[in-house]
Amino acid sequence: MSETAKRYIDEYFGQTDITELVRTYGSPLYVYQEALLRRRCREMQQLVQGVPFAAHYSVKANTNLELLRIARDEGLHADAMSPGEILALEAAGYDADAIFFIPNNISRDELRFAADRGILISVDSLDQLDLLGSVQPGGRVSLRLNLGIGAGHHEKVITAGDDTKFGITEAQLDQAQAIARQYQLTITGLNQHIGSLFMEPAPYLAAAERLLSAARCFPDLEMIDFGGGFGIPYHKMAGEARLDLAALGSRLSEMAKRFASTWPRPLMFMTEPGRYIAAEAGLLIGTVHAVKQNGPRIYVGTDIGFNVLARPMLYDAWHDLLVIRRGRLLPQTGLETVTVTGNICESGDQIAADRPLPELRCDDLVVVLDAGAYGYSMSSNYNQRLRPAEVLLPESGRPRLIRRRDTYDDLLRGMLFPVESDPAD
Ligand SMILES: Cc1ncc(COP(=O)(O)O)c(C=O)c1O
Repeated sequence: MSETAKRYIDEYFGQTDITELVRTYGSPLYVYQEALLRRRCREMQQLVQGVPFAAHYSVKANTNLELLRIARDEGLHADAMSPGEILALEAAGYDADAIFFIPNNISRDELRFAADRGILISVDSLDQLDLLGSVQPGGRVSLRLNLGIGAGHHEKVITAGDDTKFGITEAQLDQAQAIARQYQLTITGLNQHIGSLFMEPAPYLAAAERLLSAARCFPDLEMIDFGGGFGIPYHKMAGEARLDLAALGSRLSEMAKRFASTWPRPLMFMTEPGRYIAAEAGLLIGTVHAVKQNGPRIYVGTDIGFNVLARPMLYDAWHDLLVIRRGRLLPQTGLETVTVTGNICESGDQIAADRPLPELRCDDLVVVLDAGAYGYSMSSNYNQRLRPAEVLLPESGRPRLIRRRDTYDDLLRGMLFPVESDPAD
């Protein structure tokens, strides 16, 4: 693993001095590598061949405008979950026809927000279809289906099957068609998302097959979106294999080509990867501030609270950790089992439990791998803590700040104090 770790650090940082980065931009710090981000965008762009195809970057994974700009530059379209995500995409230069809105349980005003911009909207319940019909009678709509196959790394991120809030089920398709007729809505799209982080192609392909079979009931279709969820190897230091994207892509292309050849009008196929695009391009660096033994455990206390990286706390998610001391990667020798924690006032505030790591000391830097997706975008100011800065390592040139660290003023902005300033008065 030492060799793997060394190669990883060399390839990721090149000539960039990690300690200097942290000195300049503060700790903790999110870092993104442009070349890796572009490589993942290209892999996803080329996933499906032989039919019209667009990979939509799912911006919930990471909404930094500079990353959105790079994805757009690579030709990706995008999917948004909320008006705020639409605004971010607009700010990064995406046109309305490059945005697909896939919300869940939203209000009339939020639907109108997207409809007024001419953005195609997916609805995932009969009530939301009815609401959209009243907002945009005579318009176009996509239906998010739940055809019974779910997959993902944790029950909280499996988004199809029996035990999830998402999607219109097969049994509701006739009712959906009736509501669409009532409002003269044309169902031009079908989409689904089975969940996040699958490492085997099988469930995705089985779900795609089911979606294509359901598609036969919708004669006006112009678009079919197979969803995201493509996994990345979070255990890469232990040699975890990558998802076989080539095999998945070739099977998906065959299925899409076969379907398109029987379809009487032009048909666009889509996917909506988030994690696959952004996760590996990003990492998080934090600093050790205390090491102590409590009972049987050694606790390594860092500044990476779950307000900065929520995935381990939310999903027991694994992130590989590497340690830098005075600018050098510590070799994986003399390991001791430690629990790495953050600075938040909860016992569950752990980045890694019972993890074998080189003996850590104060001021060591902990590098958390594969933190580019659902890292910063899920961060918060819990405990009135500052969210970190984000820095881009461009393909050429010096590291560049792409989001400044919060300031203490940011924490108080928006609070109305004293109470006399309540605008409702
Ligand atoms: C509707 C939808 N599309 C796409 C995604 C992106 O998933 P992933 O980041 O696993 O590719 C999600 C994630 O939750 C989602 O809910």
